[in-house]
This record gives sequence, structure tokens and C-alpha cells, in this order.
Amino acid sequence: MPSYVAFLGHQPHISIAELAAVVPGFTLQKRVEKKVAIFESPEPLKPEILSTLGGTVVLAEKLSDSVLDISNLPKVLVQALEKTRGRKVTFGLRTVGLPPKTIRNLYRKCKDTLRHEGRANRYVGTDRKPAATVLLHDAGLLDGSHGCELTIIAGEELFWVGRTIAAQDVDSYTKRDMEKPVRDTTVGLLPPKLAQIMLNFGLWLARENGCKGAFKKTPQLLVLDPFCGTGVIPMEALLRGWPVLASDKVMKGVNGCSKNLDWLRKEEKIAKKDVPSAVWKQDALKPFELKNPPDAIVTETSLGTPLKERPTQKDAMKEKTENEALQEGFLRNIAATLPGIPIVCTWPVWRTKAKPIFLERIWKVLGELPYEVVLPVEPEDPARPTLFYRREDQFVGREIVLLKPKKAEEKK
Ligand SMILES: C[S@@+](CC[C@H](N)C(=O)[O-])C[C@H]1O[C@@H](n2cnc3c(N)ncnc32)[C@H](O)[C@@H]1O
Repeated sequence: MPSYVAFLGHQPHISIAELAAVVPGFTLQKRVEKKVAIFESPEPLKPEILSTLGGTVVLAEKLSDSVLDISNLPKVLVQALEKTRGRKVTFGLRTVGLPPKTIRNLYRKCKDTLRHEGRANRYVGTDRKPAATVLLHDAGLLDGSHGCELTIIAGEELFWVGRTIAAQDVDSYTKRDMEKPVRDTTVGLLPPKLAQIMLNFGLWLARENGCKGAFKKTPQLLVLDPFCGTGVIPMEALLRGWPVLASDKVMKGVNGCSKNLDWLRKEEKIAKKDVPSAVWKQDALKPFELKNPPDAIVTETSLGTPLKERPTQKDAMKEKTENEALQEGFLRNIAATLPGIPIVCTWPVWRTKAKPIFLERIWKVLGELPYEVVLPVEPEDPARPTLFYRREDQFVGREIVLLKPKKAEEKK
């Protein structure tokens, strides 16, 4: 089976869940350090998959099982560069578990061996840090046009050697995050990468729910975001070519989302006739009357009052009570007016000095509704099968919740 290494983002447990959701037959073989996962996929993965993954920064594919130790690597590199035309090549090394001195010796040996083979060469990266991902794109190392980067993971009874096949396009994320016309710091600024992850959970749930479009070679989903705000989730859906429905209770959200979608359409040349979208004003607690129901609801619900400092226990409890009521009203409304549709949503988590405060009462409500809380991986805490997204600089975290509709016989 093809074997891969994923270098994971800031929240590795969420990145692994995303991979499990997206790669059919995903088998986790080993975690190395916190942010590296070795996994197998029954089908070879295309490098393009990475542009749809929010939680994986770099993806490498195993080259061969026969590389047993470090002394073979210069030869492996020569072979990996066979298809790279021209005399001059560029190469890099992305390593885990090798000390800087070993890396230094290795790239020198690689340089010498290549020179011996008649190939002038340039090394990118240092003995302490691999090349920046932007350089991998610019220097033509990912598609092999000008060189390649070897990925080496070394550990106890482990020597994995592969080739880096894809790396996140940092500039593209920065552009759509920072250059979109409407940014609203008061509603929390969902990172585009987290929006991608949530959409991938939506795709997984849609498959679980038997949605035909979700099984296509290039999956197609109709997504609804009923708390759209500035539209980060709708923007990421549109970029994937998925039609999108978006609504918000306030006009500020409706206008912000519309403007951002228009901007994205112009920047990325996504015509409305090819990928339709609609944005309207609606309270998510009031009945939805949609001609075409969505395949999945993917939404960042309200995070409550924007906080500039760490909340006290009392403040957090007040926010919590208000938010429980909103979540209950929303889920009861969806169960009644858009039944049978999977939901990916976030619930706020208040990070008080003592401990994080999670929603509680909503679990009782869920027990009365026709949904099952699921995850594509084993939960860290079986009593709470959700994913906790937290950033050190934020006082309100997000709990990611995946709700799979129960089939008629399961409801009883
Ligand atoms: C955390 S923000 C979502 C931010 C959004 N993900 C973005 O990209 O900007 C929550 C949004 O929910 C909206 N909202 C709050 N209560 C609502 C309700 N009852 N129905 C619909 N929208 C609501 C707010 O106006 C706000 O825009």
C-alpha cells in the first residue's frame, strides 16, 4: 500500500481526524514527534489533495522499502532526480530524528555524489531547518521540474524515506485571509484552514449519509452556512467548486459575506453559473424553507461576546447559559426544518484561568434529537467525542462537533 508522511499543522489531533475523513481507507501507522504522521492509503494520493487539506502542511510519498540506512541516500537522490531535465538540479532534505551534524554530512555527500554524476547542484535548507514551503514551490522541487526534496524520518526501528510531493501554499492562505474586502475581528476570524477542515468533515458526513455527490471523483456538495458572518466557510466551499448557501441574522454578516464572495469570484475567476451561491438574512432559529436542501451544514455558530481579556468564571458561565439556548434553538430548528442533513458546527469553549468551560446542557438536548455525535477517529476523551481547537492567543476556543443524522430505525 502506498505510504505517506504528513507534517501536521498546529492542532495535530484535528489534522489526523481530517486525513481520516478525506483519505478513504486511511490507516495511521505511526506518529513521530507531535506533528508527523506516517499513514497508508489503499489508493495513491494526488499531490493536489493538499490544497484542500487545512491541517497538513507538507505531504511526502515513500520512495522505496529498500533504503535501509543513511549511506544509501545519495544514490536514492540521484535516482529521484533522473527525470529532472537539465544539468543543474536543486535538492533539499526534510528530516525528522537526525541531528544537525548528520544532516550536514548527508547534504555534503549528496552534493559530491551528484557532482560525480555530472550534475551541478544547489542545496536548499540548512542543517537545522528544511527549506521554506514557498521555496519548494518556487524552486520547482515538488513537481520534479528542477529538483526534489527527500523526506527522511528516522527513529527507533524506523527509517522512512520519501519524496516531498506537496506543500501548503502559504501566500494563497494569507491572501484570502488578509486581502478579502471585509474582515470583522468582532466575530472571531475563523482561519481559512479551519474552514477547510470543517468542510472536509462535512464531506465525510455526507458520504456517511449516502450523498451521491460526495462519492464523485471530484466530490460535489451543496453546503449551507447559517451563521456565515464574513463568509470564510462559504469562500472555502466556493474555492473547491462547491455551490453554497449562506445566511446570517444580521445585515452586516449578509453584506460582508456577499462582498467577500464577489471578491473571491473575481480573483479566482469562479463564475456564478458554474458555482452558484446565495446569501440572505435569516435567524438560524427560525424555519428554513429551501427549494434544494443542502448536503451538509457546515457552520461556526456564535462565539458569544467578543473578549479582550481572559473571562472570569462568572462571565464564562453567563456566556455559556446564553449560548446553550442558541445551540438548542438552532439544532431543534434544523432537525425540524432540514431533517436528515449532517451538521458540522463549532461550540465555544471559554478559557478561564482555572479550566476551559465547555457547553453541557446541549448534550441532553442532543439526546432528544435524531443525531449521533461522531468522529472519523477515536476520540481523545470517549465521554466527549468532539475535537477541541484552541489557540494560545484566544480566550474563546472552539469545540468541533460532527452530527450524523440517525436513520429512521435508529431513531426509535
Ligand atoms: C462566530 S461568527 C461566524 C463568523 C464566520 N465564520 C466568518 O467567517 O466571519 C457568528 C455569526 O453568527 C451570527 N449569528 C448570531 N446569532 C445568530 C442567529 N440566531 N442566527 C443567525 N446568525 C446568527 C452573527 O451575526 C455572526 O456573524
